[in-house]
Amino acid sequence: MSTSNFVDVSHHLSPETRARGVNPMKDIIRIALENPNLIALANGDPDSALNPISRIDYSVASVTSGEDPVLEWIALGANAPTQVLSTSQDEESKLRLRTALRYGHGAGHPDALQTVSRLTNAYHHAPHHVPTMTLGNADAITKVFRLLGGPGDYFLADEFTFIPMPLAAEAHGVKWVPVTIDAGGIVPEELERILASWDPERGRRPHVLYTVPSGQNPTGSTLTVERRKRIYEIAQRYDLIIVEDDPYYFLQYDLDKADGTAPKKFPPSFLSMDVDGRVIRIDSFSKIMAPGMRLGWITSHPTFHNHLVKLIDLSTQHPHGFGQVLITQLLGPSGWQLTGFDRWVRGLCAEYQRRRDLLLALFARDVASTGLASTYVPQAGMFLWARVHFERHPRFKGALPLEGRAGDGEGARVPRTNTRQLMKELFDACVAGGLLICPAYVFTIGTDPKYDDVPSHVDDRSHFIRLTFAGSEETMTAGIPILGRVLKEFFAGAPEA
Ligand SMILES: Cc1ncc(COP(=O)(O)O)c(C=O)c1O
Repeated sequence: MSTSNFVDVSHHLSPETRARGVNPMKDIIRIALENPNLIALANGDPDSALNPISRIDYSVASVTSGEDPVLEWIALGANAPTQVLSTSQDEESKLRLRTALRYGHGAGHPDALQTVSRLTNAYHHAPHHVPTMTLGNADAITKVFRLLGGPGDYFLADEFTFIPMPLAAEAHGVKWVPVTIDAGGIVPEELERILASWDPERGRRPHVLYTVPSGQNPTGSTLTVERRKRIYEIAQRYDLIIVEDDPYYFLQYDLDKADGTAPKKFPPSFLSMDVDGRVIRIDSFSKIMAPGMRLGWITSHPTFHNHLVKLIDLSTQHPHGFGQVLITQLLGPSGWQLTGFDRWVRGLCAEYQRRRDLLLALFARDVASTGLASTYVPQAGMFLWARVHFERHPRFKGALPLEGRAGDGEGARVPRTNTRQLMKELFDACVAGGLLICPAYVFTIGTDPKYDDVPSHVDDRSHFIRLTFAGSEETMTAGIPILGRVLKEFFAGAPEA
């Protein structure tokens, strides 16, 4: 049996985590869960005979017929072949309803945990990491941030990021340090520069990196394998914990071999490289099953797992039984199993890739052709990150004076352009034209103006808009021409490109 060489990670725990005690009632419930023959007069777990639910049938797409199960599912609609996954109170099934609907284990039901563990090992091979079920990535990340950070802690993140997560941590005292990213994800040299030149007067050096490696939200960037390796090596040298938020892992594009003989593997995750136990991987069923399921899982060092369970025992208790039943049945012997799951997610990849290509084609025809915006090809996820060329706008100001402005001084970083103002106006013009877009400034991590964490004020680089190809063909076909039209009107009077 192989043993882990995981390092001690206890010094990464926040004061809140160290102070948190165990829920003593959960300890007693655990004895009951582990010894079903005990006569239990201890816990107020309602009698399952009184649950008004005797059976649940989940009707899911069949993945055995047809070339591509997702194409078939879309093409045949209500007539598409389905398979029914049933669970009842008593009938033999992988996870019985009477078990799933009781109060359960904080980490998740053992059958559901075994299921996600098999999934993780099939794609990442991480035999020494431990799974913890969650209510999706937002729930997982906010818990992980509480596990690791409090007042006085600095965390690093992609400078444009899925902003609710950093904001949640700010509320409990964490400060953020932005790291420059481009189409290939975080720039490792920038990460290293920040860590190597960290001013101890500022406080404790950042010990956590939060990053979205595949199809980053909002930039659509995907970390190259080379960069992943270098970032992991930097994390080892500077003792960083990597929080790998990877909800788009299964939506990676252009993976087919050039000769079309076999699908390429998904690129290696940080988890798959993690010999130290310093990667906390966060997975979700939101993008591959349904976001309303509110189900996902964390894969981590056992120390982190143990503290997460303590936090769950004192907050959400455990994820809902319905989702745990569905996932256990779906990936179990009477459901899709891992091969069927792989067919489904490969089909999803192909479908989202078609939608991405449609959005790119529409963008090229109606937007890039104006010379007022451009984009790159995202290799994963659901987003196109389009650069608006505000420098061509008649009212663009490219060198605002520094004198008398807030933050002026040595090393001060203040906006030198009116990009943010123009973006706000463009956003309003789009809404007036009937189109909703996401401007870059909603995703930005604030910078301490005293420090050169990034090369210039983020507002001056917030000349991007996020467009999604997750929606229908009709939405994209209707929306992109509006964007082209609004841009032309907004830039009226601009010099020819
Ligand atoms: C990068 C990223 N992280 C986390 C989430 C939240 O995912 P979940 O639905 O699993 O909570 C999203 C959702 O859009 C996301 O894009």
